[in-house]
Amino acid sequence: MEKFYLTTAIDYVNGAPHIGHAYEKILTDIIARHYTQRCDNVYFLTGTDEHGIKIQKTAAAKGITPKELCDENAQKFKDAWKALDVDYTKFIRTTDEDHEKIVQHIFDKLLKQGDIYKHSYEGLYCQGCECFLNPKDLTEDGLCPDHLKKPEVVKEENYFFKLTKYKDAIIKHIKDHPDFIVPEFRANEVINQLEDIQDISVSRAKSNVEWGIDVLGDDEQSIYVWIDALSNYITALGYDTENPSENFKKYWPANVQVIGKDILKFHSIYWPAFLMALDLPLPKHILAHGWITIDESKMSKSLGNVISPTSVLESFNLEHPDAFRYYMATSAPCGRDGNYSDDDFKEKVNAHLANSMGNLLNRTLSMLVKYFDGEVKPEFKGENPLAKKALGTIQIVKKHFDNFEIAEAGLEITSLVDATNKYVQDTAPWTLAKEEKMTECGQVLVNVLDVMCIIASLIYPYCPNIASDMAKQLSFDLKTKLDDLTADNIKCGKLISKEDIKPVFLRLDSELADKSAKKQ
Ligand code: MSP
Repeated sequence: MEKFYLTTAIDYVNGAPHIGHAYEKILTDIIARHYTQRCDNVYFLTGTDEHGIKIQKTAAAKGITPKELCDENAQKFKDAWKALDVDYTKFIRTTDEDHEKIVQHIFDKLLKQGDIYKHSYEGLYCQGCECFLNPKDLTEDGLCPDHLKKPEVVKEENYFFKLTKYKDAIIKHIKDHPDFIVPEFRANEVINQLEDIQDISVSRAKSNVEWGIDVLGDDEQSIYVWIDALSNYITALGYDTENPSENFKKYWPANVQVIGKDILKFHSIYWPAFLMALDLPLPKHILAHGWITIDESKMSKSLGNVISPTSVLESFNLEHPDAFRYYMATSAPCGRDGNYSDDDFKEKVNAHLANSMGNLLNRTLSMLVKYFDGEVKPEFKGENPLAKKALGTIQIVKKHFDNFEIAEAGLEITSLVDATNKYVQDTAPWTLAKEEKMTECGQVLVNVLDVMCIIASLIYPYCPNIASDMAKQLSFDLKTKLDDLTADNIKCGKLISKEDIKPVFLRLDSELADKSAKKQ
């Protein structure tokens, strides 16, 4: 694999990040970190979507300029991703000058080649979706099904993009590439939506929406959010209509674009059509993840249950985000909705990270110190009955990642931890020591520690801090690529002293912090 380019959706900045936004960025970061273990050139893009009527109105209501609102809130997203160890390569803002310039070029090119045309139009506009809705998609009461708000009747002369021209090609692409839309069950939804697709508005009258990128040569129109927002995936790499950068040539097409199920239509219909019009290849996969609910209900400002990701870290006094990352990524299979609840969070991470994985390492190293003063002797090395399962798990995890089954891969790692725990239970090294079967006892411990290196490596994308603490105590190089891992990772000689053994994850036993402290 020569390169791996992956992107997230770019978030609207009319508010602060919540754990739904965080879920997506964590998932993508986990995928990115996994592929750094398989390839040297991973490029991970995220950012913020800053134009449009919603931002304009929110800023006006706060008595500040849209740019001030964007600056303030974009920083909150960056801060949150830092706290969650989301290690992106680039953070793009759609108000970046070079992005704006290239979007103008893209628009101009499509206009000149006849894919964009001017047309007078009356339609139903939903500000929440930032798009015109088809009357047949509204609820019985005439509301937007996603935002439960009445769309506004908008009559304007706009520029339109000839989406209908690309309909057949998109249907063919989806049918010819069953793994283009992940999970596959969503492809049918998209095919149905494509059936009655119409040309789409790609600009708004400046008199109505001022906060947007100007259409070159037309003072009265600004470029409408979706063509602006979607283009970020190529402008960030330095695409330009005339002279695309080396970076762009190296990384495009994206290997995977991670988005929420609510914006699948834009990514699997509009975006492929724009790319086809620009004569560019389509991304290999669009991964549509499910939504995160809180205590089984939809997160919403009106319900007052919107949770910020950093407040979860604070309320549980977590020194790093690993437990939250692990929980979010394994709470539900990728394409399905997941749920966050404080109790479930506490229970799962205590069970998986503290009791099973953390304790296993701690107990094994403690025995090595107790019986052998922390020294690994050459006679402790030999055939490892856990090797087959451990090496097999690497292959299974890789396969899950190739199918973007991030939760399933996480559970596979837990299953290796369980099997290793069972091995310790069955071989009872403490009994072997009591019976003075010291070589056998040492062999069991080293067999476990060899597998712990594999576990550290596999858990790294989910829990980079825990993995690094594990690797340190095992004198194992976490940068080892997955394909270079063997079942023989522990070196002979003194491995560790008593004072250097430290638990990699402490149980969350404290009383749950006042939940209201977490509400935004
Ligand atoms: N700005 C557009 C995306 C443009 S991409 C070219 C947008 N922004 S958003 O802020 O509303 O959503 C950003 C991402 O967060 C989307 O992928 C969306 O699905 C995701 N989520 C928003 N709320 C969510 C949950 N409650 N749960 C999981 N993901 C959620 O759409």
